[in-house]
Amino acid sequence: MFHVYKAYPGDPPSLSDINLHVRKGEFVFLTGPSGAGKTTLLKLVFCAEKATKGQILVGGRNIARIRESAIPYLRRNIGVVFQDFKLLPHRTVADNVAFTLDVVGMPRREGMARVTQVLKQVGLEHKAGSLPLRLSGGEQQRVVIARALVNDPTILLADEPTGNLDPALTVEIMDLLCAVNVRGTTVVVATHDASLIARYDKRTVRLERGLIVADQDGAKAARRMAGAE
Ligand SMILES: Nc1ncnc2c1ncn2[C@@H]1O[C@H](COP(=O)(O)OP(=O)(O)OP(=O)(O)O)[C@@H](O)[C@H]1O
Ligand SMILES: [Mg+2]
Repeated sequence: MFHVYKAYPGDPPSLSDINLHVRKGEFVFLTGPSGAGKTTLLKLVFCAEKATKGQILVGGRNIARIRESAIPYLRRNIGVVFQDFKLLPHRTVADNVAFTLDVVGMPRREGMARVTQVLKQVGLEHKAGSLPLRLSGGEQQRVVIARALVNDPTILLADEPTGNLDPALTVEIMDLLCAVNVRGTTVVVATHDASLIARYDKRTVRLERGLIVADQDGAKAARRMAGAE
């Protein structure tokens, strides 16, 4: 993104002059204190909010100027794990995951094969017929991730994906996101959890009051590239 600003009506800007380039296949942590603009930045990429100013290129296309009718096409390529996008409580796990495919109009039979495949990927094929509330917190979060992945997106945006989980489940979810990244998906994870960032050693972009104040490669990654390991 280039020179991106976002101001919600009546407020000072939530993002100011953001310049950020995420390469295809990268894994990036987005961090910073509460109110720094992490969620806002992810929402701009998903076109859930519109930038006030600037350019946001996703796959070479400037989505800051995108037509309303083109947004669903953009979203086929982006999977999201957002806090305000909950599982449907009265639908099975499989239906919840299939929901994304219904939206894009994939035929049902083809869709269910894909649902089974992605549930297997997150280790929940045996829970396909269960209702979300019958699952543990970690399992529910894996369903949310399966729903985000079912379209085979090129980009996965995750906003505090381990927010309510205990340390063991946090590791489980993070390992899953890393595995998704290894398979080629670009992954951006917003988190204020410093221990997570320390443990995973990935590129980390830090926001404060709507500004990028640091952008560091994972230290280990940097050392590996220098041939020290
Ligand atoms: N829908 C909205 N309308 C008005 N202001 C908003 C809206 N969403 C966010 N803001 C404001 O934008 C700023 C950045 O919020 P944002 O949610 O992006 O922060 P964050 O870094 O995700 O914080 P947290 O760690 O608490 O999730 C805050 O000052 C917030 O009050
Ligand atoms: Mg947030």
